[in-house]
Amino acid sequence: MIHGLVATGERQEELRRQPAPLPLAEWLPGRVSWEVELGFGKGRYLLRRAAAAPDGGFVGVEMASRYYRLVRRRMRRRGIDNLVLLRGEALYLLASFLPRGFASAVHVYFPDPWPKSRHQKRRLFDADTVDLVLGLLAPGGRLFFATDYAEYGERVGELLAAYPGLELGRPAGWPDGPRTNYELKYERQGRPIVRLEAIAGRPGGLHPDGRREVVAATAATG
Ligand SMILES: C[S@@+](CC[C@H](N)C(=O)[O-])C[C@H]1O[C@@H](n2cnc3c(N)ncnc32)[C@H](O)[C@@H]1O
Repeated sequence: MIHGLVATGERQEELRRQPAPLPLAEWLPGRVSWEVELGFGKGRYLLRRAAAAPDGGFVGVEMASRYYRLVRRRMRRRGIDNLVLLRGEALYLLASFLPRGFASAVHVYFPDPWPKSRHQKRRLFDADTVDLVLGLLAPGGRLFFATDYAEYGERVGELLAAYPGLELGRPAGWPDGPRTNYELKYERQGRPIVRLEAIAGRPGGLHPDGRREVVAATAATG
């Protein structure tokens, strides 16, 4: 991931020139809590959430350049100064640049389901990668997940149900209504949506089917 970028309200830098883990607390000092969205797309939820919680710190990860640029422009236009945007592949950034155990919430809405079996290793949620994603959460932190891909949603539900120390729920909707562009679109179309919400318990639990290599990469950056 040579071409990764990181942007705040004022500046944009190449990711490869940054220390790991990223010094988020230096860039945005005094944050009461941190939230992360993986695959923010057009940024509907991330931008609204950051604007609504000015004391919080937010990190958004998106690999599509056009969405990253769109959301960077909107962040600047709206004067949002509590948001760090990362352009790059989420699993790589989780393993290499993001701190561990720091987030009070992680949001993943309508991630690409990668239905072909040869692509499934790219999924954000399978036994090989779930430790990386959930490793972002501080104790008591919450994961929010939604997908319209029923089979994927069920598999993620099973994966999370088997995760040590995680409390799993299946809300019918969010208290604040549809959060992202995809959720809004699919709800209007009446398409079924699988929503999951999980609360992380004590740190140190790892998925029983996870891979040691992934855990080692995580520990090396912590
Ligand atoms: C189907 S769209 C959903 C966008 C948004 N979350 C929503 O619900 O409207 C999936 C988004 O995740 C991004 N994405 C998929 N896999 C990713 C990955 N591994 N790392 C970073 N972004 C990813 C895609 O570029 C795309 O913007």
